Amino acid sequence: MTAAFLETALPLVAAPMAGGATTVDLGAAATGAGALAFLAGGYLSAEALHARIRAARDWGVFGVNLFVPGADAVDAEAFRRYAGELADEARAGGVTLDPVPRTDDDAWSDKVALLCEEPVPVVSFTFALPDRSDIERLRRAGSAVLATVTTVAEARFAEDAGVDGLIVQGPSAGGHSATWDPDRRIADGATAPIVSAVRRNTSLPLIAAGGVDGPAAVAALLHAGADAVAVGTLLLRTDESGASPTHRDALASPEYTETAVTRAFTGRPARALRNGFIDRHASHEITAYPAVHHLTRELRQRAAASGDAERLHLWAGTGYRAAGTGSASDVLRSLAASL
Ligand SMILES: Cc1cc2nc3c(=O)[nH]c(=O)nc-3n(C[C@H](O)[C@H](O)[C@H](O)COP(=O)(O)O)c2cc1C
Repeated sequence: MTAAFLETALPLVAAPMAGGATTVDLGAAATGAGALAFLAGGYLSAEALHARIRAARDWGVFGVNLFVPGADAVDAEAFRRYAGELADEARAGGVTLDPVPRTDDDAWSDKVALLCEEPVPVVSFTFALPDRSDIERLRRAGSAVLATVTTVAEARFAEDAGVDGLIVQGPSAGGHSATWDPDRRIADGATAPIVSAVRRNTSLPLIAAGGVDGPAAVAALLHAGADAVAVGTLLLRTDESGASPTHRDALASPEYTETAVTRAFTGRPARALRNGFIDRHASHEITAYPAVHHLTRELRQRAAASGDAERLHLWAGTGYRAAGTGSASDVLRSLAASL
């Protein structure tokens, strides 16, 4: 039996992309095409998320994605060294860096409280699994709760905690890895083998994510055992995407020939187009999210505004070459055309 939240016309999901790429217009276009759309709750205040939820109410089924805060202590000395390493980079970008690590929980409690008061059809998590009590509160409020997992072990743990489904993210996915262990090395590799392995261990609904570069990749992930397939990178250059012009152009530029997984921008592994910032700092990067995210934030904002793709986090999955322009609805429909 198909889970109610996957009873969409297309077995496709518009993946949540925090930091600006996911817009209400993108969600509306994805919904219009018959896909399940996610709002990206990461980095937003509860108030800003609330406004987006209000705008999404007439979509029918949709999801909200949250970042689960980690409990890792930051090594202040390693952080100070990394801030020192970036000092020249910052000066060139006209920014002064604060060598004192700043942390936050991404307004976790406020957003969970909001979602309990104003329930949405689906809530998904990335970066970790929250306390069982939060999962239960959200389920009691009426939401289907999904955990993003990157290994069979995480999948088992999430199922034991009572989630309603899993997003199985492979290492080829663009943006931050959902790994619950930010020190883990994210090796290159396809998503289908992980989906098959998770499918052998669970009968929960599965959404596969990572590396989609066309209809054949969607078919392969469904064949591997997924009930639906999530797409991120292929939506970044669409009309409704909020990705910056610098990011969009880089995705199509012949200058960028590969992706790499890096902690250099945020202190958490993320897949991006390999650029100068990654090459300069890969050997000194540290695991310290969100402290490194805050450290480099202004530098990255200025890079985006000034068209400096060499200092920007150009999140991209391995399928980035196939990221086309036009409406997101057309992109999604064409991915499902031959199913
Ligand atoms: C720009 C960008 C931002 C992302 N932000 C989030 C996010 O906020 N939450 C999340 O769970 N995943 C996030 N991801 C990962 C996607 O949800 C999804 O797993 C991934 O894009 C799938 O791989 P693909 O990019 O190869 O299609 C992001 C990905 C990108 C490219």
